[in-house]
Amino acid sequence: MLDLRPQIYYNCRREQNFPPRLRCFFCFGGAWFEVYESMFYIAGTGSALPEKVVSNDDLAQFLDTSDEWIFTRTGIHRRHVLTHERLDDLAILSARRALEDAHTEGKDVDLILCATMRGDTFTPSLACTVAEAIGSHAPAFDLNAACVGVLYAMEIADSFIGTGKAETVLIVSAEAMSKLVDWSDRSTCVLFGDGSGAMVVKKGEGRLAGVLTSDPDSHVIRMPNIEGLNSPYNQIEQEKLAMYMDGGEVYKFAVNAMGHRIEEVCARANLSPADIDWYLPHQANVRIIDASLKKYKIDKSKVLLNISECGNMSATSVMVLLDEYAKKGTFKKGDKLLFVAFGGGLTSGAVIINWNKE
Ligand code: ACO
Repeated sequence: MLDLRPQIYYNCRREQNFPPRLRCFFCFGGAWFEVYESMFYIAGTGSALPEKVVSNDDLAQFLDTSDEWIFTRTGIHRRHVLTHERLDDLAILSARRALEDAHTEGKDVDLILCATMRGDTFTPSLACTVAEAIGSHAPAFDLNAACVGVLYAMEIADSFIGTGKAETVLIVSAEAMSKLVDWSDRSTCVLFGDGSGAMVVKKGEGRLAGVLTSDPDSHVIRMPNIEGLNSPYNQIEQEKLAMYMDGGEVYKFAVNAMGHRIEEVCARANLSPADIDWYLPHQANVRIIDASLKKYKIDKSKVLLNISECGNMSATSVMVLLDEYAKKGTFKKGDKLLFVAFGGGLTSGAVIINWNKE
């Protein structure tokens, strides 16, 4: 056994392909077997969307666009947009709903992670704002992996739980995409929507495998940050404060990345794509989802969608999707759910979990 460990560690490093945590080795019939440990299950979900619904026809009132163009190119009919609400309020509401669903109180949460590109304030973080509202003193921080943020958060939660630093983790995602785009740019503003989602994950059997990557590219999707005010020293010209995206390049990256992540995460879980009961892909564009799943010949009824009603809510998309279908009773105990996403950075990832919620 002592001889095997360095060998396995070496292989993992070389292939940059880390297996799930090893619980034990054992020898049977002359062969070595490895038993891996799953660290969390999803105990509760919640979501919250802004009241205001904006249809493609509404957009056509002030943009040179049409429902026909937007729907056929993306699958989007309408989206929710923040008006009088703050993003903080949505995040708190979705967090409270997830806690209630998990029969858990705020004070019992050991870690709060918030996946967002930008909360209402840079500081306090959105995660700290949620912590204050639910009466928690747990460590709380925001993370930005664009649309893949929730998958990054799930893997961080897995590490905290796996190393004994936490037993219950609250993952929140909230995105105000309507405040990041230029509403006179028809090639970006029609794609996005606002919203928040949350999940409570707890120590136990559930997660089967995860894979996260980055393919760094600072031009294809870009959202500049503010440079502050009135500095006599700053010589950097402020970039346009709105999202820039090369739609065609993102499209190519997305199809490729989602396809590869599915293959890799299934291999890590020792499953084939056909073994997955439900696919929860990032909701950026129906054509991207169709193209990335095409080669696996997956039954379309297994691929969950809400893009027609919500648009692309960045990190929040998979959370709202999860909550919507969980509340409909779609998932049965033991079902295998595969989350897959791509986003700015460029980032991508996939996670498979067994649905073990009571
Ligand atoms: N209405 C009408 N016409 C439009 C619109 C619109 N809303 N937007 C663009 N057009 C025009 C363009 O100006 C172009 O006109 P031209 O040929 O005269 O120059 C024409 O439509 C075709 O534009 P394309 O960009 O070639 O359209 P395409 O079929 O590629 O679809 C789209 C564009 C939907 C953006 C597609 O490329 C896509 O989905 N890309 C991925 C986007 C994505 O996933 N973004 C999320 C990234 S993650 C994140 O944001 C955090």
